This record gives sequence, structure tokens and C-alpha cells, in this order.
Amino acid sequence: MTVKVTEHVHWIGKIDWELRKFHGEDYSTHRGSTYNAYLITDEKTAIIDTVWTPYAKEFVETLKKELNGKPLDYIIANHGEVDHSGALPDVMKAFPGTPIYCTANAVHSLKGQFHEEWEFRVVKTGDQLSLGKQTLTFIEAPMLHWPDSMFEYLDGDQILFSNDAFGQHYASELLFNDLVDPCELFQEAIKYYANILTPFSELVIKKIEQWSSLNLPLQMICPSHGVIWRKNPVQIVEKYLSWASRYQEEQVTIVYDSMWEGTRIMAEAITEGLQPDGKRMNVKIFNAARSDKNDIITQIFKSKAILVGCPTVNKGILAPIAGLLEEISGLRMKGKKAAAFGCYGWSGEGNQVLVSALKRAGFEVIIGPIKTLWKPTPEDRERCKAFGAEFQKMLEG
Ligand code: FEO
Repeated sequence: MTVKVTEHVHWIGKIDWELRKFHGEDYSTHRGSTYNAYLITDEKTAIIDTVWTPYAKEFVETLKKELNGKPLDYIIANHGEVDHSGALPDVMKAFPGTPIYCTANAVHSLKGQFHEEWEFRVVKTGDQLSLGKQTLTFIEAPMLHWPDSMFEYLDGDQILFSNDAFGQHYASELLFNDLVDPCELFQEAIKYYANILTPFSELVIKKIEQWSSLNLPLQMICPSHGVIWRKNPVQIVEKYLSWASRYQEEQVTIVYDSMWEGTRIMAEAITEGLQPDGKRMNVKIFNAARSDKNDIITQIFKSKAILVGCPTVNKGILAPIAGLLEEISGLRMKGKKAAAFGCYGWSGEGNQVLVSALKRAGFEVIIGPIKTLWKPTPEDRERCKAFGAEFQKMLEG
């Protein structure tokens, strides 16, 4: 399948309907994904990125068909991860000697992946490649989201090719933002930002400021995953600016794990306390052992505060909560408040482990923690409710 983007630009990627886990098992892709690659046909021809390795042969067949006998003059490799570079060995076999334009860091990542001495042409921000009537201008984008990442701008069609930035793991035959369900689209876009780009938010802001200062007209943003931003492409740039700026909604997320229901009962009593005087606070509650990790991270990203609960086990905490806290520590979210809770049977060190992990992850622990011995009594539930009310008051204050 190929899709016409403009007269001279065609989408030649792959829609992966069955993908449910990405980056190994690290990222859930409930709606599949796409590996977007583009063919520009001018006096010269160029491809921008390729597809993931399992689809390499299919990709080369599509490319040959689209070229229709023309040579392939240039390859642009925006990033070394194999979801975009995986078909390069097959492309190079089919079109030997084609130069690969990429950043200096991408030479390392591509050589590291494929151990090949292809003809790499290193480009920097502002370097240009004329294709005939249209010209590509390269823009390095380090840490959006790898050190090797790069964008480019096609002047005639006024397209920004943004690689992973502005992408979504979202399979759709429709491939354009104005054709898909906007609710689904933005759910996937914010999940992508929360789970992949959050640690690099300061660089996201700087890159957008650099881009804006160029004052270039923009018709489309073509990312390497999900739909193309064709209708009002600036909307996703504005969203990124907002998500990169200590983003939070009026929401609290409670995440817990429980062995024999005690910590779950605490979580529910705390939730009651978060709703004082008939006020309704948007609270999302997850059992970490039974919920999708990336969905939880997305909800934490959207929240102004979190409460994390776990019973004490062997003087520590359970693996699903420990793993989640380790992951959010790497994401370096900013400006969020937190507290810890949990039940115990003997020694009760779990709460302090939670508090330390929350602080290490950059959360401001504003109260507590609270613990209950064995299964919470009616009095314990009232204490948890009061704890929730106090937490809510401190958030307001
Ligand atoms: Fe879509 Fe960083 O690869």
C-alpha cells in the first residue's frame, strides 16, 4: 500500500495492525502502529527512513514499484532505531552505493546496528540537499528522542518530517489527522509523549522555539509513527509545548498493589476522602499488578498528584510497584505532589521505601505516609478517609 501525500511525496511505510508490544515488552500498543517512510520524487529521488526489519522485503518491493524504473538517489536516515532503519540492509542490497544522509551520531547507531560501511554523508542543522525543484533542509534534534535524531523540512510542499516527534502508536488506513477519531488520536499522542518524550521536555521546548524562530510556512508534519498532521499541524506543536511545561490536569492518580486486600481497602477509603463536601475530584485508581504500565504512566503524567500504596513484604515493596516507580523515576516528571500508604503485618518498612522512591523520582511528598496493621478496621478506614481529605486540602492550599 502507498498513499499520496502531495504530488511529489508518497507514504511508502507499513501499517502494523497486530503490534501489541513495542520496544521489546516495554510499551503497549493497543491500537497497533505504523512505520512511516516517505518517497520524494523530484529531479532526484529520496526516501526518508524505512520500516521495521520484518517488513524489509515488502518495503523494497513497494519502493521499486513506486520508483518505476528511476534510480534511488538519496536515503535520509533520521534515526538509528530499527523500527525506522530495519530495512536499510535490504535497501542497500537493492540500490548499492546510495548515499545515506544522517547525523554524526546516527553513523554510530547505524554502524552499531548493521556493522556495514555504507556511504554515510553527515549533515548538521541548516545543511541542505537539493532534489531539483524542492530542497530539504536538515535540522538536528538530539534527544528527541535519541542522540542521533533528526528532522528535515521540504520547502516546496512545506512539510516537516519529524521522525518520532509528534508521532503516535496508532494504526489506521486513514493516515491523516483530519480523517481519524480525534479522541483516539490524542489518547495515543499523549501516551507517546508521556512514555517516551517526558525526560526530554526542556529540549522539546528549545527545539520548538528554534523551529518557530525560522518562520517557515508549514502545511504538514509527517512523523514516523501514526497519522500525518495535515489539518492545522500546529495543533500538535502547541500540545507538545503544553505537555513539556510541567503538564497537569485536575486529576489525582492512585496506584497500589495488594496481597490480601488491605492496601486496596485503604486506596478506596483514601479515594472517598478526596471527595470532600460533595466536591468531585477526578481520581483514577489502578492496581499496578493488573493494569497496563504505560496507561498508568500516562495517567500519572496527566495528574497533579499521585498516591502510591503497597503492603510491606520482606521489609520492602512488591515488584509491580517497585518496577513502576523505577520507570517513572527515569521519566523525570516535574511539579507533581505525592504521598504513600500501605498495610503491614509485622514490621511495616514498605511505606518508607515508597517515600524514598517517590522522592528519587522527583515527586514532592506532601503528607504522611499512612499505614494500617493487618486488614483495615472501620476505624482505620476513617483514618484513611481523613488522610485523603487532608491530602486534598493540601493540594488546594
Ligand atoms: Fe520509532 Fe525511536 O523509534
